[in-house]
Amino acid sequence: MSVAKPVPHDSAELHVTGAARYIDDVALPANALHLAFGLSSAAHGDITAMDLSAVKAAPGVVAVWTAEDLPFANDVSPSAHDEPLLATGTVHYVGQPIFLVVAESHLQARKAARKARIDYREKPAILTVDQALAADSRFEGGPVVWSKGDAATAIAGAPQVIEGSFTMGGQEHFYLEGQAALALPAEGGVIVQSSTQHPTEIQHKVAEALGLPMNAVRVEIRRMGGGFGGKESQGNALAVSCALVARLLGRPAKMRYDRDDDMTITGKRHDFRIDYRVGVDAGGKIQGIEFLQLARCGWSMDLSLPVADRAMLHADNAYNLDHVRIESHRLRTNTQSATAYRGFGGPQGMIGIERVMDHIAHAMGLAPTEVRKRNFYAEMPGALPPDPRSTSARMKGGRVDLTSEGAEGFVPDGSAGLTQTTPYHMPVEDFILNGLVARLEAEAGLAARRDEITAWNRQSPILKRGIALTPVKFGISFTLTHLNQAGALVHVYQDGSIHLNHGGTEMGQGLFRKVSQVAAAAFGVDVDAVMITATDTAKVPNTSATAASSGSDLNGMAVKDACDRIRARMAEYLAQQHQSAPAAVRFEGGRVLVGGEDMSFAEAAARCYMGRVSLSQTGFYATPKITWDRKAGRGRPFYYFSYGASVSEVVIDTLTGENRILRTDILHDAGASLNPAIDIGQVEGAYVQGAGWLTTEELVWDEKGRLRTHAPSTYKIPACSDRPRVFNVALYDGANREETIYRSKAVGEPPFMHGISVFMALSQACAACGPHYPDLQAPATAEAVLAAVKRARGLA
Ligand code: MTE
Ligand code: MOS
Repeated sequence: MSVAKPVPHDSAELHVTGAARYIDDVALPANALHLAFGLSSAAHGDITAMDLSAVKAAPGVVAVWTAEDLPFANDVSPSAHDEPLLATGTVHYVGQPIFLVVAESHLQARKAARKARIDYREKPAILTVDQALAADSRFEGGPVVWSKGDAATAIAGAPQVIEGSFTMGGQEHFYLEGQAALALPAEGGVIVQSSTQHPTEIQHKVAEALGLPMNAVRVEIRRMGGGFGGKESQGNALAVSCALVARLLGRPAKMRYDRDDDMTITGKRHDFRIDYRVGVDAGGKIQGIEFLQLARCGWSMDLSLPVADRAMLHADNAYNLDHVRIESHRLRTNTQSATAYRGFGGPQGMIGIERVMDHIAHAMGLAPTEVRKRNFYAEMPGALPPDPRSTSARMKGGRVDLTSEGAEGFVPDGSAGLTQTTPYHMPVEDFILNGLVARLEAEAGLAARRDEITAWNRQSPILKRGIALTPVKFGISFTLTHLNQAGALVHVYQDGSIHLNHGGTEMGQGLFRKVSQVAAAAFGVDVDAVMITATDTAKVPNTSATAASSGSDLNGMAVKDACDRIRARMAEYLAQQHQSAPAAVRFEGGRVLVGGEDMSFAEAAARCYMGRVSLSQTGFYATPKITWDRKAGRGRPFYYFSYGASVSEVVIDTLTGENRILRTDILHDAGASLNPAIDIGQVEGAYVQGAGWLTTEELVWDEKGRLRTHAPSTYKIPACSDRPRVFNVALYDGANREETIYRSKAVGEPPFMHGISVFMALSQACAACGPHYPDLQAPATAEAVLAAVKRARGLA
């Protein structure tokens, strides 16, 4: 069967040879126009005068439009209709598009856009979390509070109370392919190609802007050069602009942001401050905990509410909290509108409690891994149904003896049929981290290495090493329940070749390959028999964004549905011809076996065609079992959880704060993996991206609200040389207990949060410098590490 095989990414060869086509590679008709935005230079203010005459007179300029020139909706918001394509009188951040330049070339458009003279009556800009709190500048009225039990009383009654405050930075997506779109005039409407994770949203926003029904707009996307959440909503402005030009001027139009514009205009990961107060017993077990989550959302709503919700939904991570209160503030600031980014708030929520674990261990003089294990949810019986393909049978059927890892080893009691719930009252039934962590500890040799590092640090005055294990439990499903649906369209041609389409988009994550494996498996043919085609709103309508890691869960099931229906019709017809039963018809190895006859799949398809059997089918899937009341903070927002854990070892230079990852071991749960090669690639990439977020990637805004880190010269993403010297990644074999596509699990976002182990290892290395808690803040740049070393030594 073609599922579960490490088949290479369908575009692997095209990627490495540079032959893969992106929007900017599409050959343009000779009369194509190129677009650029004129941007606000003020963080907040009213436009008092605007002189665009020099822009209009610049070479190659065909048209210059402001908000007043837009015929229909001036809005590119994915949510609250609060994001004009072009500013209307007031500007809200440095980089906000104010006018659109249409020119004969890309360079001419960009050069002309700089010639505007705009006067502002500046207003006070709200840039920081504290300023926003003071001004009560927020979305959603007041804070959102979810709770379980009585945290305040539990904390008051606890033997020890620990408090702290943790800030973490945002993150630029830094997709290699910047935002880009292209529109062609078409009869009755437009055809748009857009580098987007959400073609239906592009279609929707373009239709609104053109005053046309959605059926007049067709959106296509073959692949993105990375999206990472940054192309869920941020592509709207480009696509709408191109479509407007195509429609109003009747000429093809293309727009792409250069890197500086991309970083200046588009939203990034939300930075957060999390304040915590926790009561613990003498063994480090949490009695009660309170979190205050402050999310800096930027100027418009975009996806900030669900992002902040997901941060709340991951405040527990892997830990069973009886008394917990989470208060979330969604703060409105005069900065880029923060948006989706791999993990969608989950990483921010999760690092909050991982930081608490680190703090508890330090304050109580306990081993951090023991504190974590003491607070774990319990592994329930049947959490991990046997996987027939598993290679590690010893892990199956339940729990592993953790007591082998020292007398302190804690075995949570999961056998008594107890129910354990998250802070949002969802039962946790599929917890597998007890066994997974035990195996990772053993494979990484954690206990011995920790001792060795402690001894090494004693004799090393300048360099200090640190090691940490952190777990991940990540909820899978869109929290907006209706988004958990997908469609597919499958054709079998009379020569037996298969044409596949579904609602998901390809951004490098390997979705198209996985889904082609599903189709090939359904027909018992080789993956090469399946033609992967561009995502197209004219073929599969009303799609959800490819996001929330649910691409293969949703689209894989929709494709399987379509294939199963075609196969059933083929089987019925062929069985009839052979006086056999449909159930006896077999599709395998590229052959179809029916009533003693053995024919090729192509032959079978040809016969069905001659017999006038429909060989084309749509498929559909909607995720079962999920319900969610976000106002009350109750329900089952997730179909299941994905798990994993990582161990990172780092070294810091206490003179400069510079640091390196020395070794990483990751054990990650992808269920019964659809494609272990792709999944391991996802885990590796996600880990490095997560480590980048928490170490070198620092966004700096100045006091005027200008983003000073808007190019690779000032914003440092991990390079190849920053990857761990030793990097062991393995998948934790085991089927999903829920009926997902071939019992696999979503893998796109969860491993991002393994990067947290790098940060906690750095905290450990800083803590080796002195007796005080280093209070390391993120990102752990060299400066932040130096400051933490000083605090550990009591010099701060
Ligand atoms: N992997 C690559 N190579 N490029 C990407 O842009 N995006 C991530 C993840 N992995 C991304 C990636 C994000 S944010 C999500 S939500 C998922 O892929 C989306 O794809 P999936 O649902 O098919 O996993
Ligand atoms: Mo991913 S942040 O859900 O696009």
